Amino acid sequence: MPEFPPTPLVGTVVHGAGRGKGLGFPTANLSPVPGTAVPPPAIYSGWLARPATGGVHRATVSIGTNPTFGDCAEVHVEVHCHDTSDDLYGERVELWFVARLRDTEKFAGVDELLAAAREDVRRSDALLAAAPRPGVPSTPTP
Ligand SMILES: Cc1cc2nc3c(=O)[nH]c(=O)nc-3n(C[C@H](O)[C@H](O)[C@H](O)COP(=O)(O)O)c2cc1C
Repeated sequence: MPEFPPTPLVGTVVHGAGRGKGLGFPTANLSPVPGTAVPPPAIYSGWLARPATGGVHRATVSIGTNPTFGDCAEVHVEVHCHDTSDDLYGERVELWFVARLRDTEKFAGVDELLAAAREDVRRSDALLAAAPRPGVPSTPTP
């Protein structure tokens, strides 16, 4: 059994709390389209595919309630792209998961969170270097 389904998480990029940029860790917040499978809360490595541009980008993904900041009401899908800082707002994108990196943690502060996130990105980059890239559909996913 593969670890992840052979279909991507499809979502639209929406505005988040706006903290990520200030932390030096910008994230695209995804609102999953109805019916798309969302993996359980954790930190993941994967590919972000943009049907609108044909681009496929290395990414580290946080799925969870951001417990460090006490946002505990809602599960967020947040994607940090390693190799683009393009503004993705309003775009429909695909997330192809490659590996689960760790559990989400409630850190004592921002410095601890940033150190862990940097290490996540380092590991994610190494995993993606050895992972096949997904193809991108030529038209946006309906
Ligand atoms: C690689 C990565 C790892 C993360 N790990 C955690 C974590 O373990 N605990 C946590 O509370 N938030 C974690 N987050 C989420 C951050 O709290 C979140 O991205 C930040 O608060 C910005 O949120 P915003 O984009 O909604 O402003 C992680 C985010 C990324 C990109």
